[in-house]
Amino acid sequence: MKILGIETSCDETAAAVIEAKSKKRRTKIITNIVSSSLTLHSKTGGIIPEIAARKQIEYIISVLEKSIKSQKIDAIAVTIGPGLIGSLLVGVETGKTLSFAWKKPLVPVNHLLGHIYANWTGDENEKIPEFPAIALIVSGGHTDLVLMKNHGKIKLLGGTLDDAAGEAFDKIGRLLQLPYPGGPSIEKIAKNGSPKRFIFPRPMLDSQDLNFSFSGLKTAVFREIQKIEKLDKQTIADIAAEAQQAIVDVLTKKTIKAVEKHNVKSVLLCGGVSANQKLRNEFEEKIKKTNSKFFVPPKNLSTDNAAIIATAAFYNYKEVPFERVTANQELYFK
Ligand code: KG4
Ligand code: ZN
Repeated sequence: MKILGIETSCDETAAAVIEAKSKKRRTKIITNIVSSSLTLHSKTGGIIPEIAARKQIEYIISVLEKSIKSQKIDAIAVTIGPGLIGSLLVGVETGKTLSFAWKKPLVPVNHLLGHIYANWTGDENEKIPEFPAIALIVSGGHTDLVLMKNHGKIKLLGGTLDDAAGEAFDKIGRLLQLPYPGGPSIEKIAKNGSPKRFIFPRPMLDSQDLNFSFSGLKTAVFREIQKIEKLDKQTIADIAAEAQQAIVDVLTKKTIKAVEKHNVKSVLLCGGVSANQKLRNEFEEKIKKTNSKFFVPPKNLSTDNAAIIATAAFYNYKEVPFERVTANQELYFK
């Protein structure tokens, strides 16, 4: 079957068509169009929800046209949350309208589930993850560790008590006067820095639970910057390198703890922050030493796109009459 995915939870306007044949194989991406209003937000150092939603209304038709072309669609998958409400509404109302006009089933999708299912699409020849699996979702708004016993059988093991990992990257990026979003900017400049010049805390590294906290790290960076008279390029690079290392250390150690506790077959890294090469490398290296197999999507599927939403819909297929589909900005795992 061919599924049209629609994703507008944050600043992206995205639509994709995937072809799905069997739950034993990865879905095939036919088209995956992502249009972003990021350059508008990089000037303001963060997303202005009103501007994001206005741009999404402007972009959605052409993004849909480019992704659908003249293909026959069997079902529509749309992100209903979590995210920015004005942005979510653009995608949800578009999905509902198409479902009504085409008389095709509509499948509402949790954005976080979409990130997880980035590991079930892409290269068709690559194996799919085996259950049980641990997934670490690291995005702009979430840092969640979940246990998956099967499709639809997800248990939340831990999450962030304050800032998400991506949020920490973005806020630290802003403190270092780097372009928004902070994650990719910090990764780039950290290559020229040393993590040894500064020492930042690794919040909750040794706590017994599987929760995270990143606001203390941001405060430590803020305090350090206040002490510095002139923030030169090398200092920015050194702070970025140590802040990145602190985030990577916590994410890796907590995930390994969950992997050992639950003795899983697969470990899935996903969400926008999983585009970070340092994080990928450390996960790969540490998971090699366990009995689990490591999965991470290609970088273009780590960040927000609609192919992952359509893929999540296929593996968790549950159509809902369009009249009953609503956006839910607080949607989470039950
Ligand atoms: O999943 P995503 O695209 O959108 C949300 O669902 O939030 O994640 C966006 C987040 C941002 O905080 C951004 O700074 C972070 O992912 N990010 C990165 C990298 N690329 C994106 N963080 C660290 N390193 C990167 N290369
Ligand atoms: Zn996302």
